[in-house]
This record gives sequence, structure tokens and C-alpha cells, in this order.
Amino acid sequence: MVLRSSFCRRLLVYTILSVNSLWIAAAQNEGEPYAMRISCGSQDDLTTAPTNTLWHKDFGYTGGNSANATIPSYIEPHLKTLRYFPLSDGPENCYIIDNIPRGHYEVRLFFALIQDPSFDNEPMFDISIEGTKIYSLKSGWSNIDEQSFVDALVFVANTSFTTCFHSTGHGDPSILTIEILQVDDNAYYFGPLWSKGTVLRTAKRLTCGTGKSAFDEDYGGSHLGGDRFWLAISAFSDSGHSISTEHNISQTSISPNFYPDKLYQSAIVGDDLQPDLSFQMEVDPNRNYSVWLHFCEIDSRITKEGERVFDISINGNIAFGGVDITQMAGGSFAALVLNKTVEVSGRSLTINLRTTNGSYAIINAIEVFEVISAEFRTSPEEVNALQTLKSSLGLPCRFGWNGDPCVPQEHPWSSVDCQFDSNTGNWVIDGLGLDNQGLKGFLPDDISKLQHLQSINFSENNIYGAIPSSLGNLTGLKILDLSYNKLNGSIPDSLSQLTLLQILNLNGNLLSGRVPASLGGRPLHRASFNFTGNAGLCGVPGLPSCGPHLSAAAKVGIAFGALFGFLLMLVFVLIWWKRRENILRAQKIAAAREALYAKARTHFMRDVQMAKHHRTHDLAPNHTDSGSNLMS
Ligand SMILES: *[C@@H]1O[C@H](CO)[C@@H](O)[C@H](O)[C@H]1NC(C)=O
Ligand SMILES: *[C@@H]1O[C@H](CO)[C@@H](O)[C@H](O)[C@H]1NC(C)=O
Ligand SMILES: *[C@@H]1O[C@H](CO)[C@@H](O)[C@H](O)[C@H]1NC(C)=O
Ligand SMILES: *[C@@H]1O[C@H](CO)[C@@H](O)[C@H](O)[C@H]1NC(C)=O
Ligand SMILES: *[C@@H]1O[C@H](CO)[C@@H](O)[C@H](O)[C@H]1NC(C)=O
Ligand SMILES: *[C@@H]1O[C@H](CO)[C@@H](O)[C@H](O)[C@H]1NC(C)=O
Ligand SMILES: *[C@@H]1O[C@H](CO)[C@@H](O)[C@H](O)[C@H]1NC(C)=O
Ligand SMILES: *[C@@H]1O[C@H](CO)[C@@H](O)[C@H](O)[C@H]1NC(C)=O
Ligand SMILES: *[C@@H]1O[C@H](CO)[C@@H](O)[C@H](O)[C@H]1NC(C)=O
Ligand SMILES: *[C@@H]1O[C@H](CO)[C@@H](O)[C@H](O)[C@H]1NC(C)=O
Repeated sequence: MVLRSSFCRRLLVYTILSVNSLWIAAAQNEGEPYAMRISCGSQDDLTTAPTNTLWHKDFGYTGGNSANATIPSYIEPHLKTLRYFPLSDGPENCYIIDNIPRGHYEVRLFFALIQDPSFDNEPMFDISIEGTKIYSLKSGWSNIDEQSFVDALVFVANTSFTTCFHSTGHGDPSILTIEILQVDDNAYYFGPLWSKGTVLRTAKRLTCGTGKSAFDEDYGGSHLGGDRFWLAISAFSDSGHSISTEHNISQTSISPNFYPDKLYQSAIVGDDLQPDLSFQMEVDPNRNYSVWLHFCEIDSRITKEGERVFDISINGNIAFGGVDITQMAGGSFAALVLNKTVEVSGRSLTINLRTTNGSYAIINAIEVFEVISAEFRTSPEEVNALQTLKSSLGLPCRFGWNGDPCVPQEHPWSSVDCQFDSNTGNWVIDGLGLDNQGLKGFLPDDISKLQHLQSINFSENNIYGAIPSSLGNLTGLKILDLSYNKLNGSIPDSLSQLTLLQILNLNGNLLSGRVPASLGGRPLHRASFNFTGNAGLCGVPGLPSCGPHLSAAAKVGIAFGALFGFLLMLVFVLIWWKRRENILRAQKIAAAREALYAKARTHFMRDVQMAKHHRTHDLAPNHTDSGSNLMS
């Protein structure tokens, strides 16, 4: 439980440690392609018969939960565990596999069911590789052998590889294995539209005739082929029958696709009942499909050109006319591979082989790929900034926030708005709406790395600490709503750089200090700014005024001034007291003289004394007032 809650906040990173790096180096020294196979949910590295295939554990590298697996298909490797991702871990769960060589890979994922009576639901979810959605599991997959896995050819541009499982609300994604098998850089090159931005998902891969369903390695094929799985089909639904040979086949294991011999040792041919061969499959409409057809003349009765000639059409359009295998391959028992990419608007793809001369048509194997344009990625700098934000805001597990924030486009991170930046060819973040999510955390300085933000709403959370001054760098910001949080400190002056700001809600926080003048002074008819409900803010209409704006030096000055005033007052009081003494003494003398002089003179004398008394008293009140100011 503790393990799970700490894991679910992280990306699931499978880093190949030193021991495995040695293994890779060793494998590559032998001229072998890179291969990484992971047994999900396993605590130990394992090997499986019959080819002694090595499967790496994922225990300790990833989130999710491990469980015993029920394997619904005979095709799947016989492994005992799987890893599943409960929805409480978030809608996006990813494996990131580091330190792999850049290159072209066949990636295959097997799915299984959790072995537990309370988990009897078949999960349905989407799978993405390197940010591109390659497949959605379809209802009923666990009852159809060939639907228990997905494989695709992808280019890995970086030394880290990411595959994610996206919940669609139908059960917990549960993964049995992940295989990343390097293939030739030009594998399945189909013409000018093929590029490193193309993903080829296998929609069908059939070996025709008497052959058994098998992997390349079971056929003794080259490791460079990506260990493809070939599903056996002995006849088409309404046409053909099987033939086979033990004869060696030439031109098979050659670059770039390295097909195994075995593939060409059996075939389906037309017969009197139905001379044309017709293969039909269901597809998703409005996509491009790359069709690869394999031929080999394995009927020893046919030795010369012209003895078996047929046209190949795909959905009614001639793809290849007058196909003469013997002629095109340069003889019998030699492999011939033809490929054609077609746009399909309907729900079915039909391949038809119509004989035009000689014997009935023949076919040895069929591959059909869905051509998927790889998604553009989110700017790595912004992804990092969001990861920082995720941890500093303490985003709960249920948000996920794993993989790429903006792609696959069907599965962006929740609360994140994306925009495509055609200048850089990257997705960027233009909005964050994490309002009312119970977040307890702080705003990191790195938020300013989300340079394209136009709108932020973090209202009604418990976000504490200061408003980072780096927010002032987000010059495109139009809406900044941080209301009803626990933000404290002052409003950074840098916010005045946000000249496009239309809504600024900082109300209901613990902010203090003066609202930067340029914010308070913004014309109100264009913008709506709210600073209310912060006990300590001042300086805009509706808030208390801030009082004199005093620097530290001014405060020291005032203190000195007051002290000086007090001393001055003391001096005056002393002078006054001294004078009073003098006067009292003079009065005593006068009283003594009164007895000697006339009454009229005494009057005069008192008038003079009164005037003097008043003058000293006139000066005193000023100083007494400032003194009492200081005291109060
Ligand atoms: C998985 O199977 C093993 C036996 O193969 C058993 O010991 C273990 O308890 C099972 N685990 C769970 C979670 O059911
Ligand atoms: C590859 O990864 C590095 C660092 O992990 C990153 O800086 C770079 O942008 C990535 N390149 C691509 C094409 O994703
Ligand atoms: C697939 O067909 C195209 C032409 O249609 C050809 O250029 C290309 O070489 C073929 N690919 C392979 C691997 O044979
Ligand atoms: C087929 O090839 C193998 C070597 O790859 C060789 O030993 C064998 O004799 C060949 N068989 C025939 C019938 O040519
Ligand atoms: C299929 O390929 C054509 C080019 O041949 C392209 O114009 C079209 O957009 C593609 N369709 C899809 C659905 O990718
Ligand atoms: C048609 O087949 C016959 C033999 O079956 C052959 O003689 C003839 O040349 C072929 N014609 C073409 C156009 O290939
Ligand atoms: C921000 O979110 C809160 C709470 O959901 C909402 O009331 C408010 O209107 C939002 N602010 C803006 C500017 O849309
Ligand atoms: C972002 O703001 C901080 C502080 O306001 C400043 O130090 C930094 O240089 C700014 N960065 C950019 C890219 O403008
Ligand atoms: C803001 O609050 C934090 C605790 O949440 C405190 O550590 C910090 O000192 C406060 N800052 C100010 C300026 O009050
Ligand atoms: C500002 O926020 C207060 C609550 O903090 C609210 O009562 C007031 O209506 C808001 N003023 C404006 C103009 O939105």
C-alpha cells in the first residue's frame, strides 16, 4: 500500500542497470540486434522454452500492481505474472525504458487477464508508443487468439523508449510482456511516404498453407527480422487449398526484412472450384494500409515463365498486373515480395488474385500494416516544467500525468490545454485548469518555463507560499486565477509585466503589502482584477490605504528626530524651571520691597513679571505636544 501510493506519482522508469548494459554490449559485439524483453509483474529474470528467450523482471522499476496472469491465447509466452494499473493510479500509465540505442524497432505487447475471480472483466484500453496511439483493444479480444497482442514498427529517436496504456473506463490495463526488438533501419520501406515519422502497426500477418503458426525464431529465422508472429491459414474463407515443399528456398533471409525460409515452403493455390484467390479482412475505415504479399513457385510442375500468371487487385483496383513469379523471382523456389500502400475508405480490405494465364494463382504469405503518422511531441522543456509542477503541487495519483502531456491527442493529461506550435513542430501548454482539486503545495519558479501559458486557474485549493516572481515572465498570460488559496507574502512587482492580463484573481489569500502600483492602476474597463479578502493587502481602491511609504532610513531619521526633540524639550523645561526659581526669588525680594515702596509701583512690577512668565510658557506647549505624541 505504501509502495503503491509512492509509486503512482512517478513515471514508471525501467532503467537498464549496469549488469544489463553489459549484456547489451555483449549482444551487440556479436552483431546481434538489440533486444529487450520484459516480463511484467515478475520479480525475477526468466527464460522461456523452446528458444531460451530471456525475459527481464520489472519488479521495483514500475508502478501499478503485479498479479498472477490468466493467458487467454496460445500465442502468448507462458509467463505467470502480469502488471495492471488500477484507475486510482491515473488514466495514463507508462513504461519508460532508458539507454536503448536509437533505431528502428519491432515493438510487441501481450495482454492477459488477472487471475482472480473478482476480476473477471476483460479490460479495454488504448496503447501508445512514443506518444502515438497505435491500437485500441476491441471488445472480445481475450477470446480471439490473434488479438491478445499488438505489434508495430517504430523509430526510436531518443535513447529512451516510452509506451503507455490509456484507460478508457473499461477495466484496468493489464500487460503481460513488452518486447523491443531492433530491426533494420530500412525494414518495410514502402516508398516515398515511408519515413521516421511513420509507425506501421501489424493489422494481419499470415503464413498461408500447411505451415504452423509460429514466430520467426521458431522457424529458425534471423534475429534481424524482429521475431514476427505468423498466424497460419490453410485456406481462404471461400477459396484455395494448401500445398507445401521441403525444398530450400533462395532469396529469403535478405536485407532489410530477413524473412524465414519456412514462410515460403507452403502456399495456398486456387483450384477448379474457385480459380481466383480472395482474401478479405476487416479494417478501420479511412486509413492507409501497406500490403505486403509473398510468393514463391513451389509447384515443381511449373518451371517456365508464363505458366502461372495472375493479376492482383486490392479493393477492386489492380495493384500488380501480370504477376509471373518464376519470371520475377528468376526461377522456382525463389522468394518474391511485392508491396503496395492503399487508402481504404470502407471497413474491409480485399485482396484478389485472378489468374490470367496458365495455372491458378498462388500465395505464400500476407502482411497488412496500418500506416500511422507519428504524433508530434510536446516540447521537452515544457514536459519537465509540468513534472516539476506535478510534484510541487503534490498532484494526487488519479491525475496520472505520465507520458507525453499532449499526445496521443485522444489522451492528453487532464487539466492541461495544448496548442500546436508550427514554428518548432512541438506541442506546447497554453492552459492549466487545476481549480478546486484539493491541492496542497506550492508554486515552483519553473512554472515560468511554460512560456506559452495564456490561462492559469488554480482557484480553490490549499496552495501556500509565495507567488513566484517568475510568473511575470509568462507574458502571454491573459487569465491568472489564484483565488481562495493560502498564498502569502507580497504580490511580486514582476506581475506588472503581464500586459495582456484580463483577469487577475488573487482574492481570498493571505497576501500582504502594497499591490504594485501598475496593477492597481490598470484601466478597469478592460481588465478585472480582484485583490479582496487578503487581510494584509493595501493600496488599491476598495482596500485600506497603505499609509506613508517609509524607507528604513526614513524610520531611523524619525527615531533620531524624536529623540532630539525630547532632549530639546528637556533643556527648555530646565530653563523654564530655572527662570521660575529666579522669578520666585525676585518676587520674594519684591515682597520685601513692597513694605518699603508705594502701592502703585508694586502694580507696575507685577505686570512686568506676568509678561515674562507668559513668554516662557508660550514656548513650552510646542515641545510638550511633540513629547506627548512620542509617548502615545
Ligand atoms: C500467484 O500464484 C502463486 C502460485 O503459482 C501463489 O502462490 C500466489 O499466492 C498467487 N498470487 C496471487 C496474488 O494470487
Ligand atoms: C531526447 O532526450 C533529451 C534528454 O532526455 C531531450 O533533451 C531531447 O529533447 C530529446 N529529443 C527528442 C527528439 O525527444
Ligand atoms: C516496396 O515497394 C516500393 C515500390 O512500390 C519499392 O520502392 C520498395 O523497395 C519496396 N520495398 C521493399 C522492402 O521491397
Ligand atoms: C538446404 O540447405 C541446407 C543448408 O542450409 C543444406 O544442408 C541442405 O542440403 C539443403 N537441402 C537441399 C534439398 O538442397
Ligand atoms: C493516405 O496517404 C495519402 C497519400 O498517399 C495521404 O494523402 C492521405 O492523407 C493518407 N490518409 C490517411 C488517413 O493517412
Ligand atoms: C500462357 O501460357 C502458355 C502455356 O501455359 C504459354 O505458352 C504462353 O506463352 C502464356 N502466355 C503469356 C502471355 O504468358
Ligand atoms: C476558476 O475556477 C473557479 C472554480 O472552479 C471558477 O469559479 C472561476 O470562475 C474560474 N476562474 C476563471 C477566471 O475562469
Ligand atoms: C524569469 O523571471 C525571473 C525572476 O523574475 C528572472 O530572474 C528570469 O531571468 C526570468 N527568465 C526569463 C527566461 O525571462
Ligand atoms: C508564508 O507561509 C510559509 C508557510 O506556509 C512561511 O514559511 C513563510 O514564512 C510565509 N511567508 C511570509 C512572507 O509570511
Ligand atoms: C472579488 O472577490 C470577492 C470575494 O473575495 C467577491 O465578493 C467580489 O464579488 C469579487 N469582485 C469582483 C469584481 O469580482
